[in-house]
Amino acid sequence: MTACIVGWSHGKFGKLDGETSESLIVKAASEAIAHAGIEPKDIDVIYVGNMNGGFVRQEFHSSLALQTHPDLRFKPSTRVENACATGSAAIHMGLNTLAANKARFVLVVGVEKMTELNSAQAGDVLIKASYVAEEATIEAGFAGIFGKITSAYFQRYGDKSDALARIAVKAHKNGAKNPFAHFQKEFTYDFCRTPSDKNPFVAGPLKRTDCSPVTDGAAAVVLADVSTALGMKQAIAFRAAEQINDFLPMSRRDIVKFEGPQLAWQRALSQAKLDLLDLSFVETHDCFTSAELIEYEAMGLTAPGEGEKAILEGWVERDGKLPINVSGGLKAKGHPVGATGVSMHVMSAMQLSGTAPESLQLPKATLGGVFNMGGAAVANYVSILEPLR
Ligand code: COA
Repeated sequence: MTACIVGWSHGKFGKLDGETSESLIVKAASEAIAHAGIEPKDIDVIYVGNMNGGFVRQEFHSSLALQTHPDLRFKPSTRVENACATGSAAIHMGLNTLAANKARFVLVVGVEKMTELNSAQAGDVLIKASYVAEEATIEAGFAGIFGKITSAYFQRYGDKSDALARIAVKAHKNGAKNPFAHFQKEFTYDFCRTPSDKNPFVAGPLKRTDCSPVTDGAAAVVLADVSTALGMKQAIAFRAAEQINDFLPMSRRDIVKFEGPQLAWQRALSQAKLDLLDLSFVETHDCFTSAELIEYEAMGLTAPGEGEKAILEGWVERDGKLPINVSGGLKAKGHPVGATGVSMHVMSAMQLSGTAPESLQLPKATLGGVFNMGGAAVANYVSILEPLR
């Protein structure tokens, strides 16, 4: 264990008219620094997680964090990008900086302002996170990539549309309890299961309710080394943090297997000396409901092809044996890509410190798992978190 989260902040996710990535960064950074109980001058190094790729015209984001306070001037700040795992990538850069004794306090901000574009234009940006040489002509943006993966999964294991609809219902039921979520309303099973004008097919077997939305938002954490963290008012420790990258082209992999996520989970659990069911909850990367389904298998909750059991038998509900995406996940909380990985860590830190909003707080949360994924199971990050004391 080398580092802890000692302060955090999370803004409301959604379509945030009037906000810019700059205003979102400044708010998230100042709130996280205040929550840690330190001064801006105490921050040694900054990482800004932002994917962009054309969502907004401003590309160069690192020094926007310095707008937070004059005392941040001259601090080293770097923008980090690793597709939809950008937020976790930025956190890992912070962990590496602490492990190298290059800082006492690291500020990590994850941000994305996506809704200046409409869904089709956002899809054109997101598809750049595929292997463009072979995959960029797939229709419907990144939903098209996951439409293909879902069709391949159905071909191998049978039609799992019932399970996908149940995952969507769970996400929205949980999201309805989360004041930070983009969507805070429940959807019925029939609505999610049945194609309609309000729930059309988007790509392959995926309907609108199977997709995460196009969202604006930011979240931030302050990281510190363990000895520093012992003196802080709150400290959530990394018991494990693992990154596994796989080949980018889907043609070089069995895409239904999610081997990168599986290896990331195996290494993290082994590093933490834990079994999956020792965890009190998991926040997993449900960019599409089928991603969550396959991730049940990759994390080792079920055998390959049997992921549906986890949702149909209630294991992953809020009161199940392994609650998954109690926050509403990307599906209901929203998926501002650069912010998502940071958001997952903040939601987990809140649960583990007993400070989640009352509607969201789990009765017993002692160990949390986070899985954040960039591309189609390409950049895979698992963190295992626990309170330091
Ligand atoms: N889930 C549920 N409802 C959604 C939704 C979603 N993902 N996206 C939009 N809606 C709702 C809107 O709130 C709106 O509801 P209202 O009529 O009650 O106001 C309605 O659907 C229409 O919204 P609109 O934005 O016009 O929908 P759209 O068809 O243009 O976009 C998607 C829907 C699914 C195509 C879009 O959200 C999308 O592209 N998602 C995927 C994003 C992505 O690929 N992220 C990266 C993943 S790796």
